[in-house]
Amino acid sequence: MAIERTLSIIKPDATRRNLTGKIAAKFEEAGLRIVASKRIHLSLAQAQAFYGVHKDRPFFGELTEFMASEPVVVQVLEGEGAIAKNREVMGATNPANAADGTIRKEFALSMGENSVHGSDAAETAAVEIAFFFSGLELVG
Ligand code: RTP
Ligand code: MG
Repeated sequence: MAIERTLSIIKPDATRRNLTGKIAAKFEEAGLRIVASKRIHLSLAQAQAFYGVHKDRPFFGELTEFMASEPVVVQVLEGEGAIAKNREVMGATNPANAADGTIRKEFALSMGENSVHGSDAAETAAVEIAFFFSGLELVG
């Protein structure tokens, strides 16, 4: 399997509860390298732009207001099959369905406040990484 890069966001429910380090450790324990990382506070417009793919979904308002409510940590994770591996480490969207040992099983509060975002495919990973980082900021 090829070396890939994927975008991760540690969401406001997790930064608020001081879980940044514990979540980053889960990525590293799974063999993913954190090759870029920064803490930012998204504006509502930025959150709406990032989640544009969901603009017609009923949860769009709630999701974007939540993502802009407090700081997030955006990271680029690199490794063998990083996109699928990160989704595995994250666990199911709804923490009630997440497997034992996953980030969402251990830390998520609800379907909305579910602690992490991860790109879902190669195309979205490329777009999402470019949304937050310039090439110079990716340090393998
Ligand atoms: P993400 O994009 O954040 O990595 O999560 P995901 O792929 O597992 O889930 P997705 O379907 O892309 O939904 C994006 C985020 O929207 C919130 N959501 N709320 N209330 C609801 O029914 C609902 N459904 C989705 C979650 O925060 C989800 O992570
Ligand atoms: Mg998604």
